[in-house]
Amino acid sequence: MNREVLFSREEIDRRVRELADEISRDYAGGELIVVGILKGAFIFMADLIRALNVPCKVDFTQLASYGSGTVSSGDVVISKDIGLSIADRDVLIVEDIVDTGLTLSFLVETLKKRGPRSLKVCVFLDKKARRKVPFTADYTGFDIDDGFVVGYGLDFDEQGRSLPDVCIMKE
Ligand code: XMP
Ligand code: MG
Repeated sequence: MNREVLFSREEIDRRVRELADEISRDYAGGELIVVGILKGAFIFMADLIRALNVPCKVDFTQLASYGSGTVSSGDVVISKDIGLSIADRDVLIVEDIVDTGLTLSFLVETLKKRGPRSLKVCVFLDKKARRKVPFTADYTGFDIDDGFVVGYGLDFDEQGRSLPDVCIMKE
């Protein structure tokens, strides 16, 4: 499959800094626990936290969704949990992309039960037209149309995560 650049590394860098500035303003004087969703969010999270002006602790979680083939059944489970306690803490979940909304709505509901002081979500990409359940991120890098994207942490069958640009897959 071929691919075409959708967002260049320069555009990504600019947008990530804008997001970090906005988050730093919102949490000024505080401290964050940033929870990245493996694996796709690792590069975005690394860039985002280094551009933040608030101290943060980091942790990671990994989720698995079951279903046949490419159709998700909506059953999401935690395959790797975070190790930090989030009770009474300001928590920011960082995800690569929101598609149907199933993964993030499950994770938000799960982490809310642990009593964080606040819980917000920052996504790098948002495919709004694809939602199966209502979900709105607090911070969004870019809205995109349907289509499969790779690069900047995102993969196609584990390929392409290390590409510095975000590319859209073409037939
Ligand atoms: P939801 O639950 O919102 O799932 O449907 C979000 C997860 O779906 C994956 N995803 C993608 N991964 N390029 C990718 O590399 C894409 O275009 C794409 N669309 C969805 C991704 O794992 C995300 O965490
Ligand atoms: Mg992912």
